Amino acid sequence: MDSILIINIKQLVGIQENINLRYLKGKEMSVLNIIENAFLYVENELIADFGKMEDINLEYYNSSKIEDAQGKLVLPTWCDSHTHLVFAGYRQNEFVDKIKGLTYEQIAANGGGILNSAQLLQKTTEDDLYQSASRRLVEIMKLGTGAVEIKSGYGLDTVSEIKMLRVIKRLKENFNIPIKATFLGAHAVPQNFKNRREDYITEIVEKMLPQIAAENLADYCDVFCDRGFFTIDETDKILSAAAKLGLQAKIHANELDFSGGIQVGVKNNALSVDHLECTGKEEIEVLLKSQTMPTLLPSTAFFLGIDFPPARLMIDSGLPISLASDYNPGSSPSGNMNFILSLACIKLKILPEEAFNAATINAAYAMGMEKESGSITKGKQASIIITEKIENYTYLPYAFGNHYIDKVMIRGEFV
Ligand code: NIG
Ligand code: FE
Repeated sequence: MDSILIINIKQLVGIQENINLRYLKGKEMSVLNIIENAFLYVENELIADFGKMEDINLEYYNSSKIEDAQGKLVLPTWCDSHTHLVFAGYRQNEFVDKIKGLTYEQIAANGGGILNSAQLLQKTTEDDLYQSASRRLVEIMKLGTGAVEIKSGYGLDTVSEIKMLRVIKRLKENFNIPIKATFLGAHAVPQNFKNRREDYITEIVEKMLPQIAAENLADYCDVFCDRGFFTIDETDKILSAAAKLGLQAKIHANELDFSGGIQVGVKNNALSVDHLECTGKEEIEVLLKSQTMPTLLPSTAFFLGIDFPPARLMIDSGLPISLASDYNPGSSPSGNMNFILSLACIKLKILPEEAFNAATINAAYAMGMEKESGSITKGKQASIIITEKIENYTYLPYAFGNHYIDKVMIRGEFV
């Protein structure tokens, strides 16, 4: 039996006693449960016990490896519920175009953007994609991410979309980190379907989705429902076809406009609707009546220089929110969740406690993993961050641009 005992933890952060807790909303989000001077006992990949040092069961000392965390904090790893980390190349040229004043939509209209990534990916072998994605995966694991969702969507034809999903499947098989796969064939209308977009929707519904479901290559289905990308009706059609095949929705919505994406996502019982820079009262009302997790991607708004989503209003209205990195070559070329927490506090004006809960328990829910991940709870996966010696948890989002992580454990194994 593999066991490890972590002792003298200055603060054990992010405790939830109830393994059936799904997510935190509204005022609940500002409560972060902590034990000062704590121990944590890990057995067979799972959190087996924790408590105050003075209450420790002495038998643990005899039967386990000991890790002395004097002066350090322990918290659950981040869950990153929205990434596109399988891609063929970076897009630094567009970065420069943006600096010179072009918008994300202008770059896309000029054949850049997602279509640029698709062209490159179609020419790249599955092995090469697997190698580069593996490197990115290891990079984010070292930065404290302990569960991740990865999307397709840079293939934009049946063969290349399947190629991407096979890469994600190989990552699932070869890495200890839990991964969820999302099919995003409706990321952009490919060039050769420009004047017959309905044929591309048919291709997604009749060809891609059935094959993906038959090979069990995806857990979720995504659509970029926004101005200039996919309409509400197209989104509805794709999501209902996906649901019939057992794929729940997790969609891109309301990044560029009040697109109706949030409403069509909720109507289709989406697990999460993501981006939400354009969210008002009407959208909040719809979300309040749903079990759909509003997921905010502040590094995208930061990188593109667009307005940030109204996180404060959402939480104050009683909603939950989750946070994710959106790691992708076009709008967020970083998967550093530590920076996401800083941005959330600084730019979304949410409290450190709210940011922690948004990036852990609520983010776990946004990828269907709240029973296994997202909090310090007996029976959940032992996926934890051991920080460097710092004063308290607020230091982490405060000291932006660095991460102060000493060690990361994912399912009982140090990364
Ligand atoms: O989440 N908004 C749509 N998709 C990605 C960007 C993809 C890209 O530009 O390559 C996003 O921001
Ligand atoms: Fe995205």
